[in-house]
Amino acid sequence: MPKAIKTQSSKELAKIDFASTLCIWQKKHGRHDLPWQQDLSPYPVWLSEIMLQQTQVKTVMEYFERFMLRFPSIEDLAIAQEDEVLSMWSGLGYYSRARNLHQCAKDVVSKHGGRFPQTLHELTGLPGIGPSTAAAIASICFSSRVAIFDGNVKRVLSRYLGFEEDLSVGIHAKALGLKAQELLPKKDALMPVYTQGIMDLGATVCKPKNPSCESCPVVRGCAAHASGEPTRFPLKTKKIKRIQRRLFWLIAVDGLGQVLGVKRSGAKPSGIWRGLYSFPEFESEAALRQSMPRGVSLQTLEPIRHELTHQSLVIEPFVLRIKGASKTNLALHESLQGFGQWMDSKAWSVVGVPRPVESCLKELF
Ligand code: ADE
Repeated sequence: MPKAIKTQSSKELAKIDFASTLCIWQKKHGRHDLPWQQDLSPYPVWLSEIMLQQTQVKTVMEYFERFMLRFPSIEDLAIAQEDEVLSMWSGLGYYSRARNLHQCAKDVVSKHGGRFPQTLHELTGLPGIGPSTAAAIASICFSSRVAIFDGNVKRVLSRYLGFEEDLSVGIHAKALGLKAQELLPKKDALMPVYTQGIMDLGATVCKPKNPSCESCPVVRGCAAHASGEPTRFPLKTKKIKRIQRRLFWLIAVDGLGQVLGVKRSGAKPSGIWRGLYSFPEFESEAALRQSMPRGVSLQTLEPIRHELTHQSLVIEPFVLRIKGASKTNLALHESLQGFGQWMDSKAWSVVGVPRPVESCLKELF
């Protein structure tokens, strides 16, 4: 049970029908023009939900439309090469989403005849679909009475209910999850509008900072508003500490404009960006220099800072240009194939690359 909280005034909170009020508001003030709202069938809804998991709506729009053009059906996605899927995902980050997306498409085609299953249990059995994404698909596409429970919803409900507990603790998150389920509309048919409505409210009104309480349809029943300090909710949880890491990249460029690339295995040294292409990577500048023949000159580029969920990276790029077909250069060109493969711009354009690789390639060409 949520702890009782002090209210700013002695006014009682109004008892309102949260679900009906939210649905009426969504129809009038919610978002209706997002590309994934035009066809509420499972394939586009699933694709958008996966893209939206850690990425803003504005960024997702462009990627979503490109994906739907290239892969209009789940069958098209299922038969694609993984490199192409990763290439289309380049820049969206959290690449395990793209690998799972591809595997999920293959599973839906091979195990479910190309149709998404409808139950939460079966949906969560698919790669990359967690409970909240499963609930989004089931409620939006199949009008199931199941509650989504993403960051937006946790914020809206913890404020509305004045939920004082730390949501990083499993039992507390579960308790709020049960409340989310209790607040659903009683009628199945309202579920698609309700689900979109709670996401819209979180994104446009009940924002993390500076919530627009004056525009909120459920403000009269909101405990956090009544407390006078709505942003106190949800309770702040401890920030994760990121590991600081320095990476050293060898960017070898030949006279034809080819650049040495490596498909990352996800194994050491940094264990990130599995399946994407980057440059040969070293754990130190000394290790990088020692692996080069004596006397080669390397140009340094500005270090790149890149933040991941658990790692704070500083990447130091070293550029090696091989110009001219001298015997030494030919030998060097060949020996570098021990570190990766020479790739021209066309080859780079059809594989997935992490953002810092993209920015190095842009800087060089
Ligand atoms: N975030 C997650 N799902 C969403 C959706 N359907 N519309 C807007 N933002 C979202």
